[in-house]
Amino acid sequence: MCGIVGILGTRPVAAHLIDAMKRLEYRGYDSAGLATLEDGHLARRRAEGKLKNLEAKLEAGPLAGTIGIGQTRWATHGAPTEANAHPHATPLVAVAHNGIIENFRQLKDELIAAGRVFSSQTDTEVVPHLVTIELEAGASPQEAVARVLKRLTGAFALAFLFEGFPDLLIGARKGSPLAVGHGQGEMFLGSDAQALAPFTDRVTYLEEGDWVELTRSSIIVHDVSGKEVKRAAVISQASAFLVDKGNYRHFMAKEIHEQPDVTGHTLARYLDLAAASARLPELPFDWATIDRMVITACGTAYYAGLVAKYWFERLARIAVDIDVASEFRYREAPLSPGGLALFISQSGETADTLASLRYCKEHGQHIAAIVNVTTSTIAREADVVFPTLAGPEIGVASTKAFTCQLSALLSLAVAAGRARGVLSAAQERAAVDALAEVPRLLVEALRLEPQIERLARSIAKVKDVLYLGRSTSYPLALEGALKLKEISYIHAEGYAAGELKHGPIALIDETMPVVVIAPHDEVFEKSVSNMQEVAARGGRIVLITDAQGAETAAMETMATIVMPTMPSLIAPIVYAVPVQLLAYHAAVQIGTDVDQPRNLAKSVTVE
Ligand code: G6P
Repeated sequence: MCGIVGILGTRPVAAHLIDAMKRLEYRGYDSAGLATLEDGHLARRRAEGKLKNLEAKLEAGPLAGTIGIGQTRWATHGAPTEANAHPHATPLVAVAHNGIIENFRQLKDELIAAGRVFSSQTDTEVVPHLVTIELEAGASPQEAVARVLKRLTGAFALAFLFEGFPDLLIGARKGSPLAVGHGQGEMFLGSDAQALAPFTDRVTYLEEGDWVELTRSSIIVHDVSGKEVKRAAVISQASAFLVDKGNYRHFMAKEIHEQPDVTGHTLARYLDLAAASARLPELPFDWATIDRMVITACGTAYYAGLVAKYWFERLARIAVDIDVASEFRYREAPLSPGGLALFISQSGETADTLASLRYCKEHGQHIAAIVNVTTSTIAREADVVFPTLAGPEIGVASTKAFTCQLSALLSLAVAAGRARGVLSAAQERAAVDALAEVPRLLVEALRLEPQIERLARSIAKVKDVLYLGRSTSYPLALEGALKLKEISYIHAEGYAAGELKHGPIALIDETMPVVVIAPHDEVFEKSVSNMQEVAARGGRIVLITDAQGAETAAMETMATIVMPTMPSLIAPIVYAVPVQLLAYHAAVQIGTDVDQPRNLAKSVTVE
């Protein structure tokens, strides 16, 4: 995984490489490094940990040179140490890599047998060694790369910088994305257009199997067979501005508080509030012909999909088959041609989600995608894209992207229900009216922050937390547990409340808080029974409900968070706020790195 960048510039490039790498930190932040040519000679700086460590090293030992490559890493092979940080190099070539070289073990054995000495545990290091062997045998850099690429299996993107070649960068794409940026007498390579946005908005996306030779004045793209091909340049919409935290202590806090605004923008895209109807872009399929659909995603996006399963089944009578992408892609799911497959992804680059998309494409499905980054690979490969208008999400734990995904999904389900004749015009109107209230209700939910912050002080002291919910609150219980564990490192599990008695009830004692998400809806009474089972065993309950729910439950709790009253249809969107705030404040209390928690990355571009 990781983010890579390359610059063939006219000015010293180290600082610009760092700028671009900051924009790629969402792909990993275990270590970082860059290499330039100083007077034609390869020079490197690498550092363990976040980019600021590399910046400190550069301050102490600046790197000159107007050509260079850089990488920010999420460790796959080898610990996140300086020795394993990229670029990896021999005296002849330096390589920055994103992805996994799957056959590296065989290649490494072969290279060691040939007397090559390795200085890292990475899969990447085989690449500079293989290229060096070709160069030493008299090949040009282009010939060397072309030959080596044929030997590599896996999904990856690579950037190459060569000793003694101050006007040449080579990039290659197989599985992982790579974009070429066109400047004025300058050229750029980057894992995405966002990384290149400070330098240029003219971008060429390499296609699968392509490799590219860049000089300051030319671009030559070769396809997988080595043939020269033309690839169009497009104007990227990626913004040159790096978002800042505003008045917030963390991006995550800022993003939680942006939710009223960004869900409003997203809903405005899919709803005609004046006509009280859903309004979708032109679709390449007819809802009337869709009886089953597949939803695939990872992490928080998967939980958004799980909520949507309830909505599509109830509102549109479409049977939904949902799976995490890492399972779906290898499940060999039978799919009838002409079916609908929906992919949900904030980044639009998640490797497993993309692979699942390609599987569905091969099996004749209509491909729809809900993405936040509209320049992403998933967006480009989908037949129809439903953007979420969340804006850049920087905190690794997804918050505003989740509520925007839910807003788009519910709008879609309503449109499908209406188109399929399941919902009447009056029912559509009621659903749209409910959706229109989401931004205001989010503002009201955010007012509960002081109470949730107080509660988080107690949660921060415990070792385990159980989250329970039924119906659309069940995925929210899963999301609540994920949020808490990923940023506070407290062990948490989400369960369908009805499953409590099939195992997790054995865990209940006075030390483990049980967060019950239970708006006063059609399954509320059932949730109350489950809470009573917890209370009877001395469990401490945190109840998240509304005024009617609090009154009806009339239970002694560790805390009761009383949410505004709302139609149960939209509750999963609004109830996301207290679970996000609880995790956020617990993490702040504990003092973890909220925006960049250990071991994680914002966008997982390896499987
Ligand atoms: C990572 C992130 C999660 C995110 C998941 C899916 O694990 O840390 O926050 O939900 O990837 O990412 P995507 O970009 O596909 O939504």
